[in-house]
Order: sequence, then C-alpha cells, then structure tokens
Amino acid sequence: MTRVAVFPGSFDPMTNAHLDVAQRASGLFDRLVIGVLNNPRKAPLFTIDERIALIERCVRDLGEHVSVDAFDGLTVDFARHHGAGFIVRGLRAVSDFEAELQMALTNRKLAPGVDTTFLMTALEYGYVSSSLAKEVARFGGDVGPMVPPPVAEALAARIRSDPRV
Ligand code: PNS
Repeated sequence: MTRVAVFPGSFDPMTNAHLDVAQRASGLFDRLVIGVLNNPRKAPLFTIDERIALIERCVRDLGEHVSVDAFDGLTVDFARHHGAGFIVRGLRAVSDFEAELQMALTNRKLAPGVDTTFLMTALEYGYVSSSLAKEVARFGGDVGPMVPPPVAEALAARIRSDPRV
C-alpha cells in the first residue's frame, strides 16, 4: 500500500519549523506533497511562485518522493486530487492545538477517508513562525536560526528592494 500525505500551509515563507516537519514526514510517507495555499484574500510577502520556488530549494535533499504544489479551495480536495489519505500538520505549542483540532475535525467531517497526522515541531524551533521571521527580518535581526538559508536570503533581498516591507 502506498501512503501518500499532503502537508498544507501558507508557507509565507517556509521556516525551519516547517522544514523539520517536512523532513520527518518524508520519512513516514511514500509520497509527500507540500501544498502551498494560494489565498486571494491574504496579501502574502512572497507570491505563490516565489513560495513554491523557495520550498523546492529547501526540500531538494529530501528525495524525489517529496514535491511542492499550489492549491486553492479546500485542503481535503487537494488531498483527494493527489490521492492522499493523510494531512500532515506541525504542532508547536498548546496554543496551536485548538485551531488545529478544529481544522482536523472539519477536514474529517468533509472527508472521512483523509486523516490528519500531527508532528511535534522540534524543540529548538518551537518558537518559530513565518510572521515572526518576517518581523525580525524587517527590523534587521538575524533570522538565521529561524529559516533555511535560501529563505533568509530572499527575506533580506525583499526588504532591501521594497522599503514598504
Ligand atoms: O500555514 P497555515 O496558514 O497555518 O495553514 C492553514 C491552512 C492552509 C492549512 C488552512 O487555512 C487550510 O486548510 N485552508 C484551506 C481551506 C480549507 O480547507 N478550510 C477548511 C479546513 S479548516
């Protein structure tokens, strides 16, 4: 039996916490599709193509069975589209739990055949979030411990080129 999972998120941008979850999930599933939500109601710092390209650079070493794809609409439809029986999400702290539980239960109601699996983020990345990384970068702080090197470069370049950021 082939175990396929999707790992959905905004990834604006991918952090070390995301990468850690992707890396561990890549060892658990035969195929892992990282799904980047294209949400027209949000104004992300990085376009959908930029976010995908950054993730592709970050996960290059995880193997051929890991891919990246954009999606809009429901996560369960994205999972079905890829023949996935699992949704992967990372949990950092208790504060994540309530929203994640609600999402997992909603997704289970929508698609009983698709199960959500949670991976606890590694201890050293428990504080990391995309928004925090963007804020630290904006004010000239060192984002090295928070995001993979390609993302740190992209953040610095974006902030240099667009003073409104
Ligand atoms: O990285 P994020 O922003 O925490 O990811 C949230 C995401 C993309 C997983 C969630 O917003 C989502 O699944 N959106 C797609 C719409 C959907 O399926 N909604 C119903 C389940 S809550």
